[in-house]
Amino acid sequence: MYRISRSIFFAFDAEKVHYFAMNLLRWACKIGILRRLLQKIYEPKNTVPTKVFGLSFSNPIGLGAGFDKNAQYLEALSVLGFGFVEIGTVTPLPQTGNEKPRLFRLPKDKALINRMGFNNEGAQTIAHTLSKWRTQNPSSSLIIGGNIGKNKSSPNEDAWKDYLTCFETLYDQVDYFVVNVSSPNTPGLRALQEKDSLLSIFSALHQSRTQQSKWKPILLKIAPDLSKEQVDEILVLSSDIHLDGIIVSNTTIGRDRLVTDKKIVEKIGAGGLSGLPLQERSSELIKYIHTQTQGQLPIIGSGGVFTGKDAVEKLQAGANLVQVWTGFIYEGPSIVRKINRWIHH
Ligand SMILES: Cc1cc2nc3c(=O)[nH]c(=O)nc-3n(C[C@H](O)[C@H](O)[C@H](O)COP(=O)(O)O)c2cc1C
Repeated sequence: MYRISRSIFFAFDAEKVHYFAMNLLRWACKIGILRRLLQKIYEPKNTVPTKVFGLSFSNPIGLGAGFDKNAQYLEALSVLGFGFVEIGTVTPLPQTGNEKPRLFRLPKDKALINRMGFNNEGAQTIAHTLSKWRTQNPSSSLIIGGNIGKNKSSPNEDAWKDYLTCFETLYDQVDYFVVNVSSPNTPGLRALQEKDSLLSIFSALHQSRTQQSKWKPILLKIAPDLSKEQVDEILVLSSDIHLDGIIVSNTTIGRDRLVTDKKIVEKIGAGGLSGLPLQERSSELIKYIHTQTQGQLPIIGSGGVFTGKDAVEKLQAGANLVQVWTGFIYEGPSIVRKINRWIHH
């Protein structure tokens, strides 16, 4: 059934369709009978509840950051069965992001290229939206992650202040945090994956956390384009910065082994590539980190998950939880249910 909707959706601008489809779903979820019907269709059965970094997930399948940047679709996403949703990337001040078009499909590769550039409503507005959602859904089991970043206009030397602002503004509203230093669409951001920058960001966040009444895990999201030496450096650092977990991985700036015509890819231009072309690299990196850390560092696997088999591959590589993003666009709203069914068997 989704195949038909998808062929219609894919005839229109990718970003417009994203908002159209999600607004439609959000509207449907506001009508009791429709909501219950959708829940009946999409709610995963036979889930495997998962406990990681002190949090209990109703199932290990989540939605990656960048899909619901402003936390507007939590109800709809929970109806579709996601065990967790990562909102953001959130920056201290609102941002419009890069010029449109900035999201492109590569159907032959089951991939996307995006250069959104952290468009979001800013930490304060998003904290307010989340607080409203929490009040209206006090018994929801949906785990919410807060993916945080810096404004484009903030220099890298002051980046830690932006992360701290987002951290403190969202603290009471999210269940875990992700320090995003790996998006390719904010100039210079990925340089923050280097030792001194990570130390300054994480020490500011840890210090702030000691003043909070409740402990919340802080994760790091890394790029798949890091060299082995860079990954090793982060792993050595991970105990100094008391890393609670790692997300492997963000989108790649690579364009290797694409089937799509080279001219089309060149015309699209800069941006992060996600989906199937990222699958193998992300699984390799998960396996490497899991081995190096002897399974002691919790991992969220992200990159090219479309099916139950793909998710199991990530879990077998060492991931504790799995996120989908591009797979959701290609496979449709039943993706969480299908993956959970596969995992259970
Ligand atoms: C349009 C788009 C926007 C994204 N925005 C963010 C973001 O704001 N922050 C972030 O950490 N990751 C972002 N990502 C990366 C995804 O969360 C995910 O890590 C990546 O796409 C790999 O997973 P996938 O192959 O399942 O898509 C974005 C991805 C896409 C396609």
